[in-house]
Amino acid sequence: MKTKNLLFIGIFIIALAFLALLIIFPQKSESQLIEKCYLLPGLEGCENYRDKYQETGLPYERNIQGLQPVKSSSIVLLNNGSTTTLNPKVVYKEINGQRIRMFGYNGEIPGSLLKVKQGDTIYVNVTNELDQETTIHWHGIRLNNKFDGVPHSTQEPIMPGETFTYEIKFPDAGIYWYHPHVREDYQQELGLYGNILVSPTDETYFNKVNREEFLFVDDINLQDEDVFTYYSNKINHVLMGRFGNTFLINGNTNYTLNVIKGEVIRFFVTNPSNTRTFNISIPEAQIKLIGSDGGSYEKEEFINSVIVSPSERVTIEVLFTNPGKYSLTHITPLSNYTLGEITVTNAPISKDYSGDFLSLKNNSFVNLEVNGLREYSNKEPDVQINLGVKVPSVGHIEHPSEGNEDNIEWEDTMQLTNIRSSNETIKWTIIDEATGRSNMDINYNWKVGDKVKIRIFNDPNSDHPMQHPIHFHGQRFVVLSKDGIPNDNLAWKDTVLVPKGSTIDILMDITNPGKWMTHCHIAEHLSSGMMFEFGVEE
Ligand code: C2O
Ligand code: CU
Repeated sequence: MKTKNLLFIGIFIIALAFLALLIIFPQKSESQLIEKCYLLPGLEGCENYRDKYQETGLPYERNIQGLQPVKSSSIVLLNNGSTTTLNPKVVYKEINGQRIRMFGYNGEIPGSLLKVKQGDTIYVNVTNELDQETTIHWHGIRLNNKFDGVPHSTQEPIMPGETFTYEIKFPDAGIYWYHPHVREDYQQELGLYGNILVSPTDETYFNKVNREEFLFVDDINLQDEDVFTYYSNKINHVLMGRFGNTFLINGNTNYTLNVIKGEVIRFFVTNPSNTRTFNISIPEAQIKLIGSDGGSYEKEEFINSVIVSPSERVTIEVLFTNPGKYSLTHITPLSNYTLGEITVTNAPISKDYSGDFLSLKNNSFVNLEVNGLREYSNKEPDVQINLGVKVPSVGHIEHPSEGNEDNIEWEDTMQLTNIRSSNETIKWTIIDEATGRSNMDINYNWKVGDKVKIRIFNDPNSDHPMQHPIHFHGQRFVVLSKDGIPNDNLAWKDTVLVPKGSTIDILMDITNPGKWMTHCHIAEHLSSGMMFEFGVEE
């Protein structure tokens, strides 16, 4: 009787376990199939699954009722010790005849151009007039860690109605910029960005030119009534980042500039876009590459075009020798886009700087700073980080290679998949090669005075390989080599574009104590985890 009972119970338990397995496993694979067919609805076998994914997004408030119109950007000169205000506000702005709910620092897009001097300190009061939390990050500036603007790390986010005061000291000359470090995909994209020009103490640092122009090269994704949907609780376009369908220079579609024949103009170009890499040119004009993120190059050179990935800056000087119309152009393998129009007229110029322009300078002040760094080219890297992504429900998603010849995705060629990919379905990762730790589990610690050689490898076998602009906070570095080819013209940088499959070696000069962030500057990649922090001790 007893054995019979035990046998009965045993069979019952096994049957139950079997049933449980039957229930769990088909469901798990079914939910993966639903997710996969949502991301790739055209896939064979998806006929019965493609409409089953449950959307969970809560759209942001997008009404423009009662909002003030945007103001155009102003220039603010700041002396040592002075204070200014940058309050993020909700505004509306007209783009292509559509009124869009956007954000502007003090209601301006771009935010004010701040002009300061190298070595000076300023204070910036920020009262949050948005309907959501925010911070300001001072991109590329080696400032005191407390004021770096990373929420929940260097400060608590500034809640609506609250004020935070930043103290910023500028050790390096060059062109920098500021933007929020909260929901960059939304806040920065919709207008929260501005430049800072740090003028050098050395007066021979910059060439003499007739004028300086500041360009934010950007794009925005406009639909019939508004920008493409944004959710407060999740991020879309996580696979490739949100590409725009409309190009913007300084927030506008109709950039124009008037120049007199023979003038030399210095352009400071910044890319604040979520994901688009620009290749900037002015065909027919003569262009000289002067500087990068953190100041000048060792050697000036003439170029036809220059690549500017998200958050990078370039400084170019341009000589217009003939009257007529020139276009500011974005050149890609498949098409060229006109971003703005430059009209050159015949008139006497006040000063002729074309002689200076035509001679290529070597910058001894840069040579002196970076010369000792070259010897690290032959040393083994101290650490290696690998860039990649996991799309658990799908696996490898390869792109048509047409138009991506240089391993850069110039366009969104998989729009539906990209729109539907979110931080729920996709995880971008930075992996430490030595320990296998990824993203915020990476735990590097260095000391002021260290020179750290970092190898960045963009894994072409990852689920969706593409280029990543990798940005380091709080320090500066030089790019030693790309795919084993040494870089013979160094400049200080804070962001480096790593194309698909590439290996880039950088040398970081550790100078600034604190806890600093490293991340991909594609806003949607950052939002889905592509970041880590490193510590620097005094
Ligand atoms: Cu411009 Cu952490 O960013
Ligand atoms: Cu990325």
